[in-house]
Amino acid sequence: IDIGAAPHTTPGDTAAGPGDRPLTGRTALVTGAARGIGEAVAETLARDGARVVVLDVPQAGQDAARVAERLGGTALTLDITAAHAGRRILEALPDGLDILVHNAGITRDRRLANMPADRWAPVLDVNLASVLRTTDTLLDAGALRPGGRIVATSSIAGIAGNAGQTNYGAAKAGIIGLVRSLAPRALAAHGVTVNAVAPGFIETKMTAAVPLLIREAGRRMNSLAQGGLPADVAETTAWLAHPGSGAVNGQVVRVCGQSLLGA
Ligand SMILES: NC(=O)c1ccc[n+]([C@@H]2O[C@H](COP(=O)([O-])OP(=O)(O)OC[C@H]3O[C@@H](n4cnc5c(N)ncnc54)[C@H](O)[C@@H]3O)[C@@H](O)[C@H]2O)c1
Repeated sequence: IDIGAAPHTTPGDTAAGPGDRPLTGRTALVTGAARGIGEAVAETLARDGARVVVLDVPQAGQDAARVAERLGGTALTLDITAAHAGRRILEALPDGLDILVHNAGITRDRRLANMPADRWAPVLDVNLASVLRTTDTLLDAGALRPGGRIVATSSIAGIAGNAGQTNYGAAKAGIIGLVRSLAPRALAAHGVTVNAVAPGFIETKMTAAVPLLIREAGRRMNSLAQGGLPADVAETTAWLAHPGSGAVNGQVVRVCGQSLLGA
């Protein structure tokens, strides 16, 4: 019996730009892009041809403007946890967007026994709840165009847990659950894939604040025996955003040099 071939529905079939600028014609929004990993992601997506929107908190407005100007993009200053954040993004991007990178994140480390609510709640809100809220608003409004990409930021702390980071680990584990459950539905309803990166120890201001011994352990506990760079995470994010990566959905890609944490 000839049962025929199923129609080919890989969403990555949408036309790619020229080889060295595959994201030409696409618009990317990167949260927390005034510095660190987010800045590197915005830079890499711009290199690949995307028009970038650099989102960060008002206090980081000058840095966000500087990054946007350097990349020929625009800055959008708002706190991603604000109730109106999704609406502000919609207003700033009336024609919609193709690539949404949830990178903004904070830590408020403390052993769980000594963890007051005011160190727990903001970590969950910035790293997880705001990701759900803004994604929901943008998908509901049809702002993410078919063939679009959502890339969220987990962490190996969300895979393995980490002493003193129960709040952060919980939020980053939540990102994994969110990505896995949203991915099939976002693809079916909007033609948008949803994936996450899970960085290991990356050299940024966030990890520069970690006490020296823990920082050195974080740097060395992987098969590369060194800390990663923001560009390492940015290149993986850009690959997930690439038009050819449309068959990758609901995945969490570790960018950790084979860290022992969660191995
Ligand atoms: N550096 C690492 O080793 C590492 C490892 C795993 C995961 N991560 C994750 O990668 C992401 C980037 O981390 P980083 O090391 O570049 O940190 P970073 O502190 O250098 O940069 C984070 C950026 O997010 C912005 N931000 C914070 N709260 C915000 C809010 N409410 N609204 C908008 N912007 C906000 C900050 O202003 C800052 O510019 C975070 O989600 C972090 O949890 C980092």
